[in-house]
Amino acid sequence: MTTNQKPVYTGDIAEQHIDPSQEYSAERQEIDFSSDQHAIWADLFAGVHQSYLMDHICQEYKNGLALLELDPQQIPTVAHLNERITPRTGWRIERTRVRYTLADDWYKKFAQRTFLITDYLRTRDQMEFTPEPDMFHDIVGHLPYLTLEFYARIEDKFAPAYLKATQEEREVIKRLAWYSTEFGLVVENNRFKIFGAGIISGRAELANAIMEFYRLSRDTVIDYTGQVFEQLSEQFLSHKTDLYRIIDGVNELHRHGQMSSQDQGWNVVHSLYETLNISREGYFGGEVILAPFDVATIAHIPKTVYAFNPIFFVCESFEQMDELLDSYLKPIAARA
Ligand SMILES: [Fe+2]
Repeated sequence: MTTNQKPVYTGDIAEQHIDPSQEYSAERQEIDFSSDQHAIWADLFAGVHQSYLMDHICQEYKNGLALLELDPQQIPTVAHLNERITPRTGWRIERTRVRYTLADDWYKKFAQRTFLITDYLRTRDQMEFTPEPDMFHDIVGHLPYLTLEFYARIEDKFAPAYLKATQEEREVIKRLAWYSTEFGLVVENNRFKIFGAGIISGRAELANAIMEFYRLSRDTVIDYTGQVFEQLSEQFLSHKTDLYRIIDGVNELHRHGQMSSQDQGWNVVHSLYETLNISREGYFGGEVILAPFDVATIAHIPKTVYAFNPIFFVCESFEQMDELLDSYLKPIAARA
């Protein structure tokens, strides 16, 4: 596959079937990247590695990033990643040609503590946004965490439940992963911090999350001198009916293919507020809505929206994330 091939994006990530004989073998995992690709990597890496952004990312991410010892100028080899990760948590990194691995295949690998990284890197014209997670997302978003026991433990929860779940439960499990490890937030030192790999590796998502932290205070929705999680929970409860109307509306639009690109997505959500007669102020005044991580609400989102995320869910702590994920996943994993 050449990297100048533009991905076709239709709102859902297209299934990609590849000839298994074309897949990377255990012995042949490394790629000779071009100098252009290393340069794109370096620019993406420098783009995230700014103190004004890193201040809003959780401490665990920064601990893991230091342990991963990435070269800011070079795409790392799989061998380097495994040297840094496997002795610490037992997880292994494996390269795949599949650009977006389907959940069934993904969780089979997860059960073996194997984390797949794609061989695709976004192109210059996709620096701001790529609907398909590329290797920058996989490596810089997820892998720092895989050096850490607590994250390995969180990732370890998904596969045993997924493999025993009904089809309906699998949809919920995918969304729980999406809104925690991909797009989750966590409270640290009484501040909202970014946790999810999808936010860290996506410039638009990162900017929207940080802007929202600021806006919540500016518009006196959250008073940062008080307990932030408590206030967020109160806001969520008093706006729950409208929030559910927005979720239903977003999913209705998604079903009709009206959110197949990022720009289009934001525009249709803005007009959705008008249609629903919800004024964009106070709790609903930002580009994203923050809500406490709530299994029932997440399960209510009938379709994972890939193009962009109008809601981010916040855990009070990593212990709480552990507990909430266990409350849904453990009983399923325990089935005979
Ligand atoms: Fe991801």
